[in-house]
Amino acid sequence: MADKKYKIAILPGDGTGPEVVAEGMKVLNAAAEKFNFAIETEDFDWGGDRYLATGNVLPDDAGETLQQFDAVFLGAIGHPDVKPGILEKGILLKLRFELDQYVNLRPVKLYPGVETPLAGKTPEDIDYVVVRENTGGIYTGTGGVSMQGTDNEVAVQSMVYNHFQVERCLRFAFEQVSKRHTKENPWRGLSEADIAEGKIGQLTLCGKTNVLTYVFGLWERTFYEVAADYPEVKTDYCHVDATCMWMVKNPEWFDVIVTGNIFGDIITDLGAMTQGGMGIAAGGNINPNGVSMFEPIGGSAPKYTGLGVINPLAAISAGAMMLDFLGEAEAAAAIDASVAYVTGNKMESMAARKMGYSTSEVGDLVVASL
Ligand code: IPM
Ligand code: MN
Repeated sequence: MADKKYKIAILPGDGTGPEVVAEGMKVLNAAAEKFNFAIETEDFDWGGDRYLATGNVLPDDAGETLQQFDAVFLGAIGHPDVKPGILEKGILLKLRFELDQYVNLRPVKLYPGVETPLAGKTPEDIDYVVVRENTGGIYTGTGGVSMQGTDNEVAVQSMVYNHFQVERCLRFAFEQVSKRHTKENPWRGLSEADIAEGKIGQLTLCGKTNVLTYVFGLWERTFYEVAADYPEVKTDYCHVDATCMWMVKNPEWFDVIVTGNIFGDIITDLGAMTQGGMGIAAGGNINPNGVSMFEPIGGSAPKYTGLGVINPLAAISAGAMMLDFLGEAEAAAAIDASVAYVTGNKMESMAARKMGYSTSEVGDLVVASL
């Protein structure tokens, strides 16, 4: 008998989503057997095809339905025959808001054997996480258009944050530092003096306090307020433009980065490229007190649909993140180690078509090394 049973909602979605989710589930099921827990799943067909067939993006009770599960596993949203924005806003963003998944956690980690475009950088140098605020800021849709179509057209889309939203996201980020490091095993980027002061890791606030003075003024004040509760965390600040610079030139300077929604969206695509591309970048939309949703961040890659050439590792890593959040840390770490073994010893490339294996063979390799 399994110790625990988790109910997972599966949203394979569009394009290559179903193929990568299948490999993710293959690995999760193997981990369940090995680590003695059970997974019960239910599939939902929400995505572009359902929208084209029914004219309906998402059932009205989708949020309530997903509340019945322990977690959600998402493939990809985006269909070539549907105008950009409809599915992204109608499914992905809607679920993030309805389930109050206020953090988007995106590890930027270079696995062994994976090629990075950053010359001379190794897995030791590229290993940090971005905590992206996930339900506020420009993404709230606050604003509007007037006098549309005339020379006087005015468009406003505001960056809106309140103290509550900022504070809960910052607390989550401070806690990530203690999740990653301990007193016995502190972050390697700390100096002797930091360690003597009792620091175990670092949190960088990424903002734009020199221009967006109101919004990032709020973030900055709240950051130092909350920091008082986490004396073991070294605080650091970077403007978003400089953050991009250092993510390329000195990624080893980062441990945990926390930022607002739009900056987080942008810098995590940059981060994904530095870790070997979208084929390997995973993320979690997290509600620490509710239902979280895990996804490969790469999108639906429609041109590769059904060919069995897409890289499933991002989905497999997203599955590992899901297990970690469900409390199966050991299983999550084992999957992560297997992914590292497969990138380091088997695969030729992270890019679709160039892996040296098919999508399902990569899943099999990860299972075999578990
Ligand atoms: C992401 C995506 C989404 C976002 C889009 C598809 C709405 O780019 O998850 O990063 O902007 O958050
Ligand atoms: Mn994005």
